Formats: sequence, structure tokens, C-alpha cells
Amino acid sequence: MEINGYQIPEKTASCIQIEDQHGAHNYHPLPVVLNRGLGAFVWDVEDKRYFDFLSGYSAVNQGHCHPKILHALTEQAKQLTLTSRAFHSDRMAEYTRYITQYFGYDKVLPMNTGVEAVETALKLARRWGYAVKGVPDGQAKIITVEGNFHGRTINVISFSTDPTAKAGFGPFMPGYITIPYNDLHALRHAIADEDVVGFLVEPIQGEAGVYVPDSGYLAAAKALCKEHCVLFIGDEIQTGLSRTGKLLACDHENVRPDILILGKALSGGVMPISAVLADDEIMLTIAPGEHGSTYGGNPLACAVAIASLEVLKEEKLADRAAELGAYFRTALVGLAHPVIKQVRGKGLLNAIVIEHPSDNAADILCLELMKNGLLAKPTHGDKIRFAPPLVITKEELEEAIDIIRKSLVVLHT
Ligand SMILES: Cc1ncc(COP(=O)(O)O)c(C=O)c1O
Repeated sequence: MEINGYQIPEKTASCIQIEDQHGAHNYHPLPVVLNRGLGAFVWDVEDKRYFDFLSGYSAVNQGHCHPKILHALTEQAKQLTLTSRAFHSDRMAEYTRYITQYFGYDKVLPMNTGVEAVETALKLARRWGYAVKGVPDGQAKIITVEGNFHGRTINVISFSTDPTAKAGFGPFMPGYITIPYNDLHALRHAIADEDVVGFLVEPIQGEAGVYVPDSGYLAAAKALCKEHCVLFIGDEIQTGLSRTGKLLACDHENVRPDILILGKALSGGVMPISAVLADDEIMLTIAPGEHGSTYGGNPLACAVAIASLEVLKEEKLADRAAELGAYFRTALVGLAHPVIKQVRGKGLLNAIVIEHPSDNAADILCLELMKNGLLAKPTHGDKIRFAPPLVITKEELEEAIDIIRKSLVVLHT
């Protein structure tokens, strides 16, 4: 098997062929087959080591196979894994208190995947709109922004502006207004509609290619929400949990979302765990039986989430992301490579934008990075996200920058 002149080793090729034959073709992975990980590194079936510069789309902030998180997982797995919410569990009690105090909200609603938490937040906003704001039944609207990524359910893709995510899956869900991102004028106009109950936003757009809004955008958006009695719904699934150099990306502007959505690194990449946090006025509009999930809040997830959150604080991962991120961006700009049109990001959530005559230059570069021992993936054609686990050391980061420098040679025009 060969891809763009790259001869794929035998074991790797065999796994890819099996997966290709038996698995759905809903992803386009790099031709690498991984079987273990530790810290900032993963190894393939040929035992070759790579820097992981995707971190499971920022789920592995605490590093692969973090010993403390694995300890919590294995100890709890021996004890009790699932009760369903038909019964209480001691871990759920501990977790609800821990996470609400950690983030400063009255209540948490535990879910599993990111998109489930987004769905939960949207349901909460609509319910609050009817029960508290007094919007006429069935009229609630939620403002979303262009270039958003909040997951893959039919409801959530209803307000996607990405044709690849959306085409051929209609009919779509009504009740959404989509405005340009980073555009306060458009928000001011849209939010004047009295049926608007929520503004759903990523503080930095991750999947769109690490698009950082202007400084002040989030704070001004929050002020507009307050003025118009609209809930600010912060999707921090990718940006949260120390990734951008603060616990939450909204913290950069001292913005407290009315509804906070977390996922990914809430488990350090160990299992799907997500959560929605809000105060009583919002959360208590949903009554028993009106929303839930069999696995949401299971004791295993509760134990893993507590350990994952503890690691963030104990290892000061936000400070580390801020410091190493600034160093990384300076180093990338310092490469002064003609194909790097832009370097952008915050903390250790970064991207480069490639300018090159070839349409698939970002793919070519990612293949070369892989050959040289660093895994990263293009997003939206010309952008490559660089988001290593936050436990990466400065020396390791320097080594990774060297690999990037060396790999860029493949794009010499
Ligand atoms: C901002 C944001 N929201 C929601 C999601 C969806 O999360 P999941 O894939 O766990 O459903 C993602 C995933 O990349 C995301 O980045």
C-alpha cells in the first residue's frame, strides 16, 4: 500500500485494510495505526513513536494514560460502574459537589458525549425561555454563528454552515438564527428579537481552524445577552479545561457563561464524559423524567472526571499551556516559512494557515510530519491544528518544532 509516494508498512496496511472493509467510511484518518500512548506521545503497531499534536481533538489535555486518572478508573471499575439514574450513587454525590464548586455553578447535568451536552444546553435554554423569560410556546429562537462546530446530531447540524456536515441530511430543525462570528453588530441586531432565548458560541472556533475572535468580543456579547435577557451558552468542549492557558477560554475576558458546556478533557481522553453547568433558575426548569441518559453521571465517569479535574489544578496545566503556547507561536513565526500565511491560537490550541499552489498542501505536510514522527490533521483544507497534550515539556516541544521545520521542506515551491 502506498499513499503520495509513502510506502505504508505491512502491519499498518493490514489494519487499515480490515478497518476499511468492515468499518463505516465516515472519517479520513492518516495512514497510521496506533496501539499505545503515554504523556505527549503515541506509538504505532510498528513501534514507531509520534508526538500527538491533535490530542483527540483536545480531549487528552492531561496526557495519554495519566496514572492518576487510570488509577481512579480501575479502582472505581472494580467497585461499581453503572447504576443508571434510577438510583443514587455515592460517586455521583461527590462529583456533583466537586464540579459545581470547581466551576462556581449551582448545578451540573452530567451527560456522555459533547454533542449530547450541547443538545442538553439547547433544551435547557428553550425551556428557560418558556418558563422564565415568557416566550410564547414553540417560538423560542437561539442565535448561532457561522463556522460553528457543536457536533453531529441532526438538530446540531441544522445550524451548521459547513456543507460537508449538512448536505443530504435534511429536513432540519427550525428555531435557529445564524449570524457571522466575531460580529457584534450582527449580534446586536439579531438579539433584539424578543423570542431569542440563547446565544450559543465557541469562545475560540476549534474545528473552523482555531479562529480566535477579537479581544473584547466575548465580554461585549455577554453584556448584550444580559441586556436582552438572553442566555450566553459557552461551548467550552474544545477550548475548556486549561487548553487555552486559562481554565476556560471565557476566563480570558472574565465572562461567566449562563450555561457552560464541557466535554472531551473532562475525562482526560479516557472515556466519553460531558457536563452542562448552570444556576438553579435555569437548571431547575427541567423536572424528573424530562431529560436524561442511561450512562450520564455513571459512577465510573464521576470518579474519572474528578481525577481529571484534579490533575488540571495539581499540575498547573493552564499556566503551562499559556507559557508553552506563547513560546510555540513565537517559534513558528520565527520559522518565517513562505507557505505559513498565519500562525494563530491561544495557549496550546494553535493552527497554521498554509498558502501554497497545491490544493492538498496541508495533507502533504501532515503526511510528511507523520513520517518524521508528529501527528497532526488538516482542518478545512488549508489549516493545520497543533494542539499537543498540555503535559508536554519544553524540551519535547523544541523537538516537535524541529520536526515541523524539517517537514516544511516538502512544500518548497
Ligand atoms: C466545540 C465543540 N463542541 C462540540 C463537539 C462535539 O463533541 P463530541 O464529538 O464529543 O460529540 C466538539 C467536538 O469536536 C467541539 O469541538
